[in-house]
Amino acid sequence: MTGIAIRVDGLTKVYGSVRAVDDVTFSAEPGRITGFLGPNGAGKSTTLRMLLGLVRPDAGTARFNGRAYRDLPNATATVGAVVDLAAAHPATTARGHLRTYAALGGHPATRVAEVITTTGIDGFADRRVGGYSTGMKQRLALATALLGEPRVLVLDEPSNGLDPAGIVWLRNFLRDFAAAGRTVLISSHLLTEVQHSVDDVVLINNGRIAWAGPLTEVTAAGGTLEETFLSITQEGALR
Ligand SMILES: Nc1ncnc2c1ncn2[C@@H]1O[C@H](COP(=O)(O)OP(=O)(O)O)[C@@H](O)[C@H]1O
Ligand SMILES: [Mg+2]
Repeated sequence: MTGIAIRVDGLTKVYGSVRAVDDVTFSAEPGRITGFLGPNGAGKSTTLRMLLGLVRPDAGTARFNGRAYRDLPNATATVGAVVDLAAAHPATTARGHLRTYAALGGHPATRVAEVITTTGIDGFADRRVGGYSTGMKQRLALATALLGEPRVLVLDEPSNGLDPAGIVWLRNFLRDFAAAGRTVLISSHLLTEVQHSVDDVVLINNGRIAWAGPLTEVTAAGGTLEETFLSITQEGALR
């Protein structure tokens, strides 16, 4: 299985007077979990939306092994993404939602039962989505992203709404996913929580990359991710 690298180069998005994403460059490598981290409003979601072709950049490129998302021959079989939890209709069940998306993506119907098991949603897969908690919706969204057996996962704040057991489960799941040579890019505003979940760190603040490198470089310096982020952003260094 060939690994897929994500390369983001000079991505920029301006909303009125706000430079939401300002000349953002980083990469995410196969076999590793890359944490795209920064406070609320830093520009994480806008960057991921540009990566997935949902928002048009004002400048720059975002590519998977050299190809833009929209140029991937079978996008959902290459990249699994969760950037929005509102996709499932409240009157449908998880199983119904997954059947629809398997058909839309051209994935075998047998994948539906598989992703239900993988994401541990067996217990509520036949209940209406309208009654789901945020954590249940997160798992359904991940199940949907996994239908095409993607080699890349792009997840925007995937642990939002998960209970502690769910967070541990997600961490282990992503660890196994990456260990198979696949690529994981996850965003989070919770620096303390992801300290134990990521291999590489990309820190973003006010739309600009503040720091990027392996987590071991942060921990070798003796500090926590949070302390490193605060010292970098307060100094205004490296920006
Ligand atoms: N569609 C939009 N229209 C106007 N401003 C936006 C839009 N989307 C995001 N922004 C602004 O861009 C900045 C970055 O937002 P976002 O990418 O959602 O940050 P994050 O995901 O890191 O919290 C914020 O100031 C936000 O208000
Ligand atoms: Mg966001």
